[in-house]
Amino acid sequence: MTADDILREMGLGPVWKLRATPAAAPVEESAASSPAAFPSVQEIAPACVTAVDAAMTWDELATTVAACRQCRLCEARKQAVLGVGDANADWLFVGEGPGAEEDQRGEPFVGQAGKLLDNRLAAIGLRRGENVYIANAVKCRPPENRTPAPEEAAACRPYLERQIELIRPKLIVALGRPAAQTLLQTEVKIGAARGKLHDYRGIPLIVTYHPAYLLRTLLDKAKAWEDLCFMRRTMQARKGG
Ligand code: URA
Ligand code: SF4
Repeated sequence: MTADDILREMGLGPVWKLRATPAAAPVEESAASSPAAFPSVQEIAPACVTAVDAAMTWDELATTVAACRQCRLCEARKQAVLGVGDANADWLFVGEGPGAEEDQRGEPFVGQAGKLLDNRLAAIGLRRGENVYIANAVKCRPPENRTPAPEEAAACRPYLERQIELIRPKLIVALGRPAAQTLLQTEVKIGAARGKLHDYRGIPLIVTYHPAYLLRTLLDKAKAWEDLCFMRRTMQARKGG
């Protein structure tokens, strides 16, 4: 049995094609190493501070995001994609941003990367919409699926923050570097950040590979499996304790 066979057995296969621009491609070092890569919302998008009311309900959030024009990603989108799933989920998965299919359908992770994500969820006994919420760091599709710019992620972050306040998940899983950096507000290297418990405002956060990146190397596939086991153990400990 090859490693690929094993992975297929685990629900991690088959091999999906990567998007034209791999979602987890490293950002330019110059941008990533400079603190200016993580400007605060106030610095770059003053209007955003008032765009999200601390008491905003799901309905208000959905209406606001649908009409949002706080960053230039609004220009090419068909629609903003807020998220999908159980509003009281224990599990929150956060991706990078909608791709073409997500932009068309208005739901995160419905294209090829989504099939992979669903396989990974199934591998730890989870299903989309059942105790799981799926969102993205940015709600509007970046043109050509490029990585969202730091100022775009910062402009959109208040929406994700409000989603997290409303959901109150027991565990957050950041899928790939842009999601991890947006949530942790620091430079993240997946290889170093995975396998550890991070903290998002008191909620445990685990960083793992973006599903679209996953199938590039066998080594990373094996590591992704370790990450899934780590997530499941962490949730079990949270529920037990
Ligand atoms: N990749 C993402 O990061 N999010 C999606 O919703 C789809 C693909
Ligand atoms: Fe608004 Fe976020 Fe869309 Fe930018 S990506 S326009 S901040 S909803």
